[in-house]
Amino acid sequence: MKVLVIGSGGREHAICTKLKESKLVSKIYCAPGNAGIANVATLVDSKPMDFLSIVDFSKREEIDLVVVAPDNPLAGGLVDILNANDIKAFGPTKRAAEIEGSKAFSKSFMKKYGIPTADYAVFNKYEAAKDYLDKVEKFPIVLKADGLAFGKGVIIAHDKVSAQNSLENMMLSKVFGDAANTVIIEEFLEGPEMTLLCFTDGKTVSAMPSSQDHKKAFDGDKGLNTGGMGAFSPAKAYTPQVEKEIMENIVKKTIDGLNKENRTFKGVLYFGLMATASGVKVIEYNARFGDPETQAILPLLESDLCEIMLATIDGTLNNIDIKWKNKVGFSVVVASGGYPENVIKGYEIEILPLDEDLILYHAGTKESNGKLYTNGGRVFNLSVVADSIDEARKKVYSNIDKIKFTGARYRSDIGIK
Ligand code: AMP
Ligand code: GLY
Repeated sequence: MKVLVIGSGGREHAICTKLKESKLVSKIYCAPGNAGIANVATLVDSKPMDFLSIVDFSKREEIDLVVVAPDNPLAGGLVDILNANDIKAFGPTKRAAEIEGSKAFSKSFMKKYGIPTADYAVFNKYEAAKDYLDKVEKFPIVLKADGLAFGKGVIIAHDKVSAQNSLENMMLSKVFGDAANTVIIEEFLEGPEMTLLCFTDGKTVSAMPSSQDHKKAFDGDKGLNTGGMGAFSPAKAYTPQVEKEIMENIVKKTIDGLNKENRTFKGVLYFGLMATASGVKVIEYNARFGDPETQAILPLLESDLCEIMLATIDGTLNNIDIKWKNKVGFSVVVASGGYPENVIKGYEIEILPLDEDLILYHAGTKESNGKLYTNGGRVFNLSVVADSIDEARKKVYSNIDKIKFTGARYRSDIGIK
């Protein structure tokens, strides 16, 4: 099969790497990809939101499967458009992907189907939101842009003044553009966070090993929210009892609810969860593989990823037994100096030889005249499969300084908490 993967980050590098192991796949393309992905796939010069160019390329090259990895093209309906052109695509339709694309929708969905989540209120007028905030007495409080905002649309405000300022920035100054035309104000939850990614064909759910992301920019969960600075699998809070609670109370209700709403979900459904004192609650849904969770989890997959993807499309996931290594998956992001606020790109990269069992995924790199340059906020993911978190930490952190570029930085506490 000829497979085209849409996207350009570490997640897409991990997906392409796994697809390359598939006995079904003869050729991999990636649009637009990055310098590392170029080692496993042929890069295609199409942007993820340029749907016409992706459809044209897929027809011309007789692509058998398109894997849509990032949020924006899923929310924009790329899967629907590919399907309308008789091209097989992995990922949810636009209607199903709205579970990620609109937080106002996902909150009302959870309320309707009794899925535990933070209490909230939705506003599409600044004055009403401001009046509501004036009356709030308990802080912190959480403000969320309704739409997609590059993983940065969530503000945790610790007092009234900063909450009012954030609200103004979102609804009046439009720092997130139209994504914050509607704002959700919600209760602050506390407890360990975890991520559960599930393959689903809309009927059968096959959970991947649990994982834990690290969203804050700096050690000790300090600084701004980022797309994620590192991840490991399995999550420490994901005990068998918690697993049972999540499956019954959250995963099953979500899949059933989406079917009832005529939004049958096929692809990877991402549950961002928090184990609070009053049970596990949903922080957010994503309609796709997480980044960087995927770079920690996919190295654990023993089964054929392409076969799994085809089964989610064909509705035959119940027929396959997905096997995972019973090990720890671990991944740390090497980011550009100013990430997530001020990213300067274009620094030359030098990589000294890494120990053999390490996996280096490129997230934001570019090649020019045989040299490697930084080309994004998150530049690399250094991953490993190990027998324990301690062993994984030792392996990654004893190698990570071999990746050298001006301003390179990483969190040194992934896996400690
Ligand atoms: P989201 O983009 O919705 O996943 O939010 C980004 C991050 O903000 C989450 O991973 C949490 O760490 C934090 N967060 C979001 N909502 C809440 C909440 N209601 N209470 C506490 N933290 C939250
Ligand atoms: N790791 C968070 C995300 O993929 O949105």
